Amino acid sequence: MKAEEYPFEAALAALAWQVELGADEAVGEMPIDRFAVAERAAQPDARQRAPVPAAPAAIPGREAVLRGAAEIAEACTDIEELREALAGFEGSRLKKGARNLVFADGMAGARVMVVGEAPGREEDAVGRPFVGRSGQLLDRMFAAIGLARTARSRDAALYITNVLPWRPPTNRDPAADEVELLKPFLFRHIELARPEILVAAGATAARVILERTEGIMRLRGRWAEWRGIPVMPMVHPASLLRDSSRKRGAWADLLAVRERLDGGGSQ
Ligand code: URA
Repeated sequence: MKAEEYPFEAALAALAWQVELGADEAVGEMPIDRFAVAERAAQPDARQRAPVPAAPAAIPGREAVLRGAAEIAEACTDIEELREALAGFEGSRLKKGARNLVFADGMAGARVMVVGEAPGREEDAVGRPFVGRSGQLLDRMFAAIGLARTARSRDAALYITNVLPWRPPTNRDPAADEVELLKPFLFRHIELARPEILVAAGATAARVILERTEGIMRLRGRWAEWRGIPVMPMVHPASLLRDSSRKRGAWADLLAVRERLDGGGSQ
């Protein structure tokens, strides 16, 4: 299809392609005629040619970036410092495509800390984890065992974060290298929050925290441990929204958390 013969169809296809890439709103004041830009670029005018970029002085290798991330996270002595360190961390490509850092919500120091996967569109827009539909379900699930992110007492509070603090474009699954790079920040976050119980919500959180490769249906419902802290792996609330037959298991897992908080139940 030639753009000049089918201008409407070509414009529609270009728009669909942008949406596919994750563009979900127009940010410029003025529209840009991309076809005119392409024509200008094709003209052999030396003045319009893009300058050859200078070679960067030194791009740190992957190993150095990983080491740097671990050192930065390790050096943080409280949760606010960790939040600031992440906000200033430029090593993750996810940050460039995200609007906001999504660090945590609820009470740091709550007895229960929930770790999800990554922010979605709503979370990215407001900078808080689990505020969309799956977040509302998560709130209802924990309210059923007497826990809430808005609670003021430590006993009734909940602390919520994600494996990734920035939204992956188009809500795609996190890539292994993205998780690997940001893992030291998550682990330091858990160490500094010192929960009595960790809930790994979904396969990504369960695999990262437990260093396992099985699917969440194999892991869920069985107490595990992360550096001495009991971990309950559960099905992610987004998955419960898609498949309500999984809710019965999730309810059993929540009851196991309640029982353990009350001083009973273990492995
Ligand atoms: N899903 C997650 O795993 N985390 C969020 O914050 C929102 C949706």
